[in-house]
Amino acid sequence: MAKKAELHIDGEIIELPVITGTENETAIDISRLRAETGVITLDKGFKNTGSTQSGITFLDGEKGILRYRGYAIEELAEESSFLEVAFLLIYGELPTSEDLAAFEKEISEHTLVHEDVRSILDGFPSKAHPMGVLSSLVSSLTAFYPKSLDPNRSVEEINGTIIRSIAKLPTLAAWSFKNRMRQPVIYPDNSLGYCENFIRMMFSLPTLNYEVNPVVASALNKLLILHADHEQNCSASTVRIVGSSHASLYASVSAGIAALWGPLHGGANQAVIEMLEQIKDDGGDVDKYVAKAKDRSDSFRLMGFGHRVYKSFDPRATIIKKAADEVLGQLGVEDPVLDIAKKLEQVALNDEYFKVKGLYPNVDFYSGIIYRAIGIPTDMFTVMFALGRLPGWIAQWKEMRENGEPIGRPRQIYTGATERKYVPIEKR
Ligand code: CMC
Repeated sequence: MAKKAELHIDGEIIELPVITGTENETAIDISRLRAETGVITLDKGFKNTGSTQSGITFLDGEKGILRYRGYAIEELAEESSFLEVAFLLIYGELPTSEDLAAFEKEISEHTLVHEDVRSILDGFPSKAHPMGVLSSLVSSLTAFYPKSLDPNRSVEEINGTIIRSIAKLPTLAAWSFKNRMRQPVIYPDNSLGYCENFIRMMFSLPTLNYEVNPVVASALNKLLILHADHEQNCSASTVRIVGSSHASLYASVSAGIAALWGPLHGGANQAVIEMLEQIKDDGGDVDKYVAKAKDRSDSFRLMGFGHRVYKSFDPRATIIKKAADEVLGQLGVEDPVLDIAKKLEQVALNDEYFKVKGLYPNVDFYSGIIYRAIGIPTDMFTVMFALGRLPGWIAQWKEMRENGEPIGRPRQIYTGATERKYVPIEKR
């Protein structure tokens, strides 16, 4: 028999359907609640609210499970390529080798951006944060591809926009870095793989015969896979809600980049390294900072710790921690902040405050250490996250459109003034 929930309001009993997902998560379906009772639910930060039914990513925060389309993140990070994972997320199934070759070829043929994008880039001061530059440049693609403004066009045309977004984001991301460095931009090289091409556009110069280090390319491939999707997080929800107004994919992704920027979301990777540097410069006293994080009167938080969903461990953090040791070893890099990070993790993991609240290192705790080791500057870390998250945003946007979801429009409980009489300014 189908499960039902009962809601008692003012002596009236309302029966609500209960929905169960394929992994047995349960939701009370309140979609008819207001129409039938005039009442809404209130859930600040959506801590208990499902905004959609999705077949893309499964996450069990208690057990530390993360799967893309049913495949464990551990296996994908170990054995697949970022574009293979992108294909899986966006189209729902793993590609055959022919599918993947065709997907890679199509992407490699669209990596160039319109030459006029350079004039937009030139307009930004060199101090501009690369996330702001990236979000603006992605939005500017609507000007070069005006047909993309209509998300109701044919499947082929929408797919063209999807391919262009994946192909051009590395170019725009690397160019936002070149703007910051006031260096000439490097054009894409379509003979290179996705990660190799990006690394070359970041670090090469017209005067250099640049060779991409395979250790760096492989580390980047892993990091991008680990960031590729994370179900209904702040930026994915932003992409879905912006897209729900029938805004274009480029506009929706641009909004996703803005949402990712904040330090409580993707911006945490930058904040973690800044925090570790601060602890190092302050003498490396880890206990002092753990005490500060526990002190309610102090606004300091351990960046890279805690997660809205993971309450036992973040499986991505486990993989990244191991990768950090490997990559630094292979590159022969010694980074004192890695030791501070490990010490901090140990102290926090054994501390009652963190244990009781279920606060563990998240994906961002160690990712910055790898980015640093491969030469990525701190304010580019969140751009790297955006590069990884793009297939997830696209998959979420596409699913929302294909499901024909209605415009996202939460309600509210009004707490302002009740009706009052307007008094003209000269009489006040
Ligand atoms: N350091 C110290 N205390 C913390 C921390 C932290 N990093 N995170 C949470 N707490 C405490 C918080 O003060 C609260 O305590 P109390 O119950 O006494 O009020 C309790 O733990 C619950 O925290 P919350 O802020 O209500 O939880 P949330 O689910 O709203 O926030 C979070 C999740 C990730 C925003 C938060 O843990 C945080 O600010 N962490 C640091 C920033 C960070 O690393 N963000 C990256 C998240 S992973 C990348 C991504 O996918 O976005």
